Amino acid sequence: MIETTSVAQRAIRSHYDLATPFYRLLWGPHIHHGLWSEEDAARRVPQVSPRAAQEQLTDTLAELAEINRGQRVLDIGCGMGGSSIRLARHYGCHVTGVTLSGVQRRWAAASAMLQGVGRAVEFQRADAEAVRFDDAAFDVVWSIECTEHLFDKAAFFQQVGRWVKPGGRVAICAWLAACDAELPVKRQQVEAVCDAFLCPSLGSFDDYRTWMTDAGLIVEIEHDWTSRVSRTWELCDQRVRRLGLPWLAGFIDPAQREFLRHFGTLLRAYRSGAMQYGCLVARRPRA
Ligand SMILES: C[S@@+](CC[C@H](N)C(=O)[O-])C[C@H]1O[C@@H](n2cnc3c(N)ncnc32)[C@H](O)[C@@H]1O
Repeated sequence: MIETTSVAQRAIRSHYDLATPFYRLLWGPHIHHGLWSEEDAARRVPQVSPRAAQEQLTDTLAELAEINRGQRVLDIGCGMGGSSIRLARHYGCHVTGVTLSGVQRRWAAASAMLQGVGRAVEFQRADAEAVRFDDAAFDVVWSIECTEHLFDKAAFFQQVGRWVKPGGRVAICAWLAACDAELPVKRQQVEAVCDAFLCPSLGSFDDYRTWMTDAGLIVEIEHDWTSRVSRTWELCDQRVRRLGLPWLAGFIDPAQREFLRHFGTLLRAYRSGAMQYGCLVARRPRA
């Protein structure tokens, strides 16, 4: 695991409170990478749009997690409710979404109402590392690109192992440090990403497997999707420049402008192999 000491939780909350309208403008309702097929990702211009590629990532994770109608899902780090609302609308799930940001909580609740699933989802503003749920309350614990922001990931997965029902699943997509990211050149690149994108640490596939296994979960699926998702940052960078967002963000908060300038940092870390993008699905044993 690669750690940095530069990140405070207050900064993460304030980033999502302030940047949510920019994310909506830039990425739509999902704040996560798009997933293209290997073939499409290699094209100069992918045939599948970034928005459709984001939905493809959500749907692929839903399939791997064996999401079914009527299930109770906990969406950790739910953003503007992109996954929660999709799981309620298209899969018939009852979803509890948790976000650190009050702006996102309100945004997600309003979007759910407007899309006719206000009764199937509820959103809480809470810290995923402090929030409490009953044991075995959920069929699926789901988290896309939030665990990067958590300070004690091992302790978080201990809780997750209790929240999920026996036989239930844990579905995670996360930015990862490569297994050899301790090498100085790679470490520098991962630390730069942690500092710029407010991640107290980035775990590797090995770290996530250990945290989940120690929490009594059995890891059944691991996918390295790096080559299928990294186009996201090229496309975002182009859009950011085209829309003049760094200039606009500078008026609101210079830290947000800095954030927008670091898309290349992440892209370089993917290209050099310092970072990976991982999908993991684990199961809590029945007995
Ligand atoms: C990159 S966004 C992903 C949002 C959402 N999963 C999606 O895919 O659209 C990261 C999310 O994690 C949330 N987050 C970060 N730290 C958190 C914490 N300690 N507790 C709850 N949510 C947290 C942020 O508020 C934000 O909603």
